[in-house]
Amino acid sequence: MHLQDEWSFLRKLAARLRQEIAILILATLIAILALIEGIGAGFVFWLWAAAVFVALTRAPLVEQAEPPPPAEPRPVDPETLLRTVSAGLAALDMPALIIDREASVLAQNPAAEKAFGAFPAGAHISAKLRSPSVLDMVRETIATNAPNQIEHSERLPSERVYIIRIAPVELPDIEIEPGMFFVLSFRDISELRHIDRMRSDFVANASHELRTPLASLRGFIETIQGPAKADPKAQQRFLGIMFDQTTRMSRLVDDLLSLSRLELKSHIAPDQKVDLVPLLGHVRDSLLPLAGDLDVTINLHLPPAKAEVLGDRDELVQVFENLIENACKYGQEGKVVDVSLLSEPGQAVEVVVSDRGPGIPAEHVPRLTERFYRVNVEDSRSKKGTGLGLAIVKHILTRHRARLIVKSEVGKGTDFTVRF
Ligand SMILES: Nc1ncnc2c1ncn2[C@@H]1O[C@H](COP(=O)(O)OP(=O)(O)OP(=O)(O)O)[C@@H](O)[C@H]1O
Ligand SMILES: [Mg+2]
Repeated sequence: MHLQDEWSFLRKLAARLRQEIAILILATLIAILALIEGIGAGFVFWLWAAAVFVALTRAPLVEQAEPPPPAEPRPVDPETLLRTVSAGLAALDMPALIIDREASVLAQNPAAEKAFGAFPAGAHISAKLRSPSVLDMVRETIATNAPNQIEHSERLPSERVYIIRIAPVELPDIEIEPGMFFVLSFRDISELRHIDRMRSDFVANASHELRTPLASLRGFIETIQGPAKADPKAQQRFLGIMFDQTTRMSRLVDDLLSLSRLELKSHIAPDQKVDLVPLLGHVRDSLLPLAGDLDVTINLHLPPAKAEVLGDRDELVQVFENLIENACKYGQEGKVVDVSLLSEPGQAVEVVVSDRGPGIPAEHVPRLTERFYRVNVEDSRSKKGTGLGLAIVKHILTRHRARLIVKSEVGKGTDFTVRF
């Protein structure tokens, strides 16, 4: 500490302890006088000690914070307030408008401009928002000053669902006229609604797929217990169908489980090196019995060298099994399925599975990878399809950072390309 600092510290301390020092000096003077007058030393000592005690307990050794004075409402210039609130709203990614008591738009944030287009200066909100329920809500809040919200859907330019909320701008310690400004905000819940719909479609589809074989099983059991009780031949036939139905159900459940497992690890990229040359050979071999039943030939076109990609071997087997199986099942009338592996140095590795079947009409192509989506439900069911195969393929490829490209021409055939 500098000498100057010390002095100023001592001065401050002396100023703070002025009264206490005065009490001490006075007490000491009284004690000296008492001694001179011949009063007993013991009594003088106690008198002096009492004075010191009083001085010490009074001393404000810890500075006490003064309670703040009660806040006086400060008047604010409406222009400044409007600018401040709109600067805040500009940072939001949800559309928001500031309106006045006449429901004229005073400011809009960039998100609102993107969603509804620019409101002309001072325009009434009905210039862009024509829904009577929204206008009623705004009118009510302007009249009562109470916040309000409703759900509102727009058809144009695209289908959107918003929670629209209106609330007056209020600042507790700043004096503004109540109901001078209102903020109208739009929370876009279209995505949530879409996910909700997908989820309920999924549950409906899954239960429907399980209910059909279950109902047929039940029917057969009743028949075996009743009318076919004494007909071993019919029983044998029904048991065969029942076996197929239970196999189908367990396949469906396996597929659903494998989809949910894939979803869980979708963000973890696989890191094994997998050579696609032997892998495709293995898949072809495993599908030979099916191809034989359908009278389809699978031709493999493989490069002489290795073609390695980063991947999970079992999952890649699942991908090519489903693509080649689909080509055999749905392109059966073309008789031939070609599987080509293209791996040129410096280019992406590609596997193309092509059939010469009936092809897929263009409107179905974008939806093929949706769960349970089938171009022809009856046709697919008769081929024991569940409509989950390509959904699984897409999930696996997403995890492998690979793409599925579908090119199809009705009457000519279909190419499914996997590009790594
Ligand atoms: N090569 C193809 N040619 C014509 N249509 C096809 C072809 N591949 C798939 N499809 C159509 O796409 C639908 C979805 O195929 P996906 O593999 O997802 O299901 P699936 O084969 O019916 O059932 P799963 O694969 O679970 O057994 C099929 O039902 C079929 O209508
Ligand atoms: Mg399939």
